Amino acid sequence: MKPLVHAVIGCGRVAPNHVDGFSALPNAELRWACDRDLSRAESLAREYGLPRATSDVRDVLADPELDSVSIAVDHAQHYELAAAALKAGKHVLVEKPLALTVEEGTALTALAERTGRVLSVVSQHRYDPVVTSVRSWIANGHLGHLVSGTVSLQCGRDDDYYADSYWRGTFAGEGGSALVNQGYHALDVTRWLIGDLAVVGAAVGHTAPRGGMETEDTLAAVLRGPQGALMTYQVTVASSITWRTRIELVGTEGSVLFDLDHPGTLHLAEGSEALRAAAREVETQVEPAPAGIGYYGISHRQQIADFATAVRDGRPMTADGTEGLRTLRLLQEMYTWARSGGASASLLPTAVPVPAPSAAVAGAAAAPAPSE
Ligand SMILES: NC(=O)c1ccc[n+]([C@@H]2O[C@H](COP(=O)([O-])OP(=O)(O)OC[C@H]3O[C@@H](n4cnc5c(N)ncnc54)[C@H](O)[C@@H]3O)[C@@H](O)[C@H]2O)c1
Repeated sequence: MKPLVHAVIGCGRVAPNHVDGFSALPNAELRWACDRDLSRAESLAREYGLPRATSDVRDVLADPELDSVSIAVDHAQHYELAAAALKAGKHVLVEKPLALTVEEGTALTALAERTGRVLSVVSQHRYDPVVTSVRSWIANGHLGHLVSGTVSLQCGRDDDYYADSYWRGTFAGEGGSALVNQGYHALDVTRWLIGDLAVVGAAVGHTAPRGGMETEDTLAAVLRGPQGALMTYQVTVASSITWRTRIELVGTEGSVLFDLDHPGTLHLAEGSEALRAAAREVETQVEPAPAGIGYYGISHRQQIADFATAVRDGRPMTADGTEGLRTLRLLQEMYTWARSGGASASLLPTAVPVPAPSAAVAGAAAAPAPSE
């Protein structure tokens, strides 16, 4: 069987998790490290033994043997780079979020469909053992009728994290901050577990902005699940704690409380004996930390294995482009609700700037119509 030949585009903080995942595949060749800052590409290539480094994405996409790319750059360029890769006939694993806007995301899913290429958005925590277990417990009725839930992330980012970055904390480069970046996974996992969520209300806060960030550092929302469950969601990047998630789901027959930290931990599973027995089982499935930043977790490996199977066999993925688009749509609805005034107006010390469209970023292509 021909090895899967892959390239990593963007050699920053999350790139080692992609290198780690593709290195763990039985029959894959990691060929290219690409970063517009050549020294970063060379450094990643040297550290992990990739044979080719370049600062130009066109070198990568012109490689006729290349099957697929990881896109791990700022949010504003996801659309442009993913579209170029799909048009070049490559399969795409793009870091979350799928794109900066729903229009761009819709165009990308349409393009993947038209070109017959796999488009996957990184949602690694969907593959965490505790998360897949909770999903099966909900499907099996162990929790009964879902009535309520609490989803939270408190994390801490310092001034340098924003001040030293060309894109973090900016509307043009990131689209928002606490929700779309750090809070993405808790929202995406919750949506995957309980189904599509409607926004009942949301508010953004610019409460203790670090490093000159113009985007929100805190957001709170009320969401409603398909069975009517009322959920509270909150995220802040202004905590003194580096990373701490909690997701609590309450049903008429059982309740669970778990996290998306590393290793993912089930803190509580109360209900029937069947639920408690299943909970004891999941506690044995903890893996050691991979390369990269610890709180990103272990599960890039699982998603990358899923991606490779989809590329080779055409099997549907747990985290495909359509799923990424649904989560993008939800978080944009939350931002729209929060930024439109409503309940949020009284919480904001100053007016929240309207996010610039991605085309305002130098070199970014305008999103084509969804039908392209
Ligand atoms: N799944 C996760 O848990 C997780 C964790 C961290 C980051 N991310 C996501 O990964 C993406 C990247 O985040 P990061 O923290 O690695 O960012 P980063 O700023 O550390 O790295 C981005 C890199 O992309 C390079 N780059 C920018 N434009 C480029 C271009 N056109 N061609 C080639 N290289 C280019 C930059 O020079 C930089 O080295 C974001 O979408 C972020 O949300 C996901």
